[in-house]
Amino acid sequence: MADKLWKGRFTEKTAKVVERFTASIDVDKRLYRFDIEGSIAHCRMLARTGIISEADGDSLVQGLNQIRREIDAASFQFDEQLEDIHMHIESRLFEIVGKVAQKLHTARSRNDQVALDVRMYLRDALAELIRRLGRLQRLLIELAKTHIDVLVPGYTHLQRAQPVLLAHHFMAYVEMFHRDSERMGECRVRTNVMPLGSAALAGTPFPIDRAYVAELLEFPALSANSLDAVSDRDFIIEFLSAAALCMMHLSRLSEEMILWSTAEFGFIELPDAFATGSSIMPQKKNPDVPELVRGKAGRVFGHLMALLTLMKALPLSYNRDLQEDKVALFDAVDTLGACIDVYIQLLPGIRIHAQRMEQAASTGYINATDLADYLVRQGLPFREAHHCVGQAVRLGLDRGKELHELSLAELQSCSPLVKEDVFDYLATRETVNRRTGPGGTARSAVLAAIQAAAQRLG
Ligand code: ARG
Repeated sequence: MADKLWKGRFTEKTAKVVERFTASIDVDKRLYRFDIEGSIAHCRMLARTGIISEADGDSLVQGLNQIRREIDAASFQFDEQLEDIHMHIESRLFEIVGKVAQKLHTARSRNDQVALDVRMYLRDALAELIRRLGRLQRLLIELAKTHIDVLVPGYTHLQRAQPVLLAHHFMAYVEMFHRDSERMGECRVRTNVMPLGSAALAGTPFPIDRAYVAELLEFPALSANSLDAVSDRDFIIEFLSAAALCMMHLSRLSEEMILWSTAEFGFIELPDAFATGSSIMPQKKNPDVPELVRGKAGRVFGHLMALLTLMKALPLSYNRDLQEDKVALFDAVDTLGACIDVYIQLLPGIRIHAQRMEQAASTGYINATDLADYLVRQGLPFREAHHCVGQAVRLGLDRGKELHELSLAELQSCSPLVKEDVFDYLATRETVNRRTGPGGTARSAVLAAIQAAAQRLG
């Protein structure tokens, strides 16, 4: 084993340090299924076009299938000297089928081969991530349905702003994950393009049939330029960008899980199975899982930067720098997948402290905007109403009362337009349920949003 497949023009053996430095087998071995599937399609095409004989094609395919079984069964020997997964498979093929193995690489280069493998890997990974994002959205929709009547403060600047339905809050994340899923779907379209036939960079003089290969491998499109096809990694950058956004959303969700489970908020309790204790403070129940998701977001952002930086000064076409793409790609897929999974497991177990949320949702002058709206309905321009309510808040602060706890006379001292019906108008649930427009937090609007989101998921 381990004779270099490209040794012809060399007189010296490759330095050990170079073998170790250039090897990517530890990273790219996970491409083996795609590499073999791609090679089988290539062989079938070579035989069909008469570039190799049917018999040669058959023995290559048989050998490749055997290698797949060996790697599946973990009986395959990996060796750093063989650089990468493509060389490993070709070299083993030689051991199995003999000299005919040397025909496999006709009209092909590792440059178009690796582009193909990565595209095949990513289109599958994207489909899987989209499935998992669907599950996550369904769980959030379930939570919204279960807690449809729970009120919670809505915040701006992390200060209590206006009451909303907890369900509306959950549905906000459904919208984010829906956009993530859409982005991944769009990225999948541009990933699903077949580069084989570009060979090293200039295409090949053999009468290959690219459309046939694409059909065998279920690619709906062929790459249109051989130079671009071997050096394009836009689809990976697009994925990393979509992954970074999705991690950012998961990180925001995590931040809220962490805040909401503090004694200060006391809105939720994380399931015991998803929290950890302290080695010194016996009372502690720490939100390590959301914290780690928040932390891992930085890692995925880093991969996006790494790949943009890797690409920015590369001349056409293939350069070995490109080998580094897989480190970033695989880790981003793994990290994002793991974070979505952990939330799929965690979310159904969170305990909602509805009373605590509702108490917070009806204090802190959270209905001040509604009082202003009330005055506007009585004919006051909004700015003036805003000023009157500011005075009412001031009065409440001085007397230790919420707005709805002030007497009618006290409220009227701020504006004579206030009538007895103001107290009904200021009731928390009333303020929420008035916001009936599409995208609003009224029960009716949230139920409509839930229905629309469920329908979108199919
Ligand atoms: N391991 C290489 C990569 O991942 C495969 C392509 C090698 N091509 C080359 N010209 N050395 O990019």
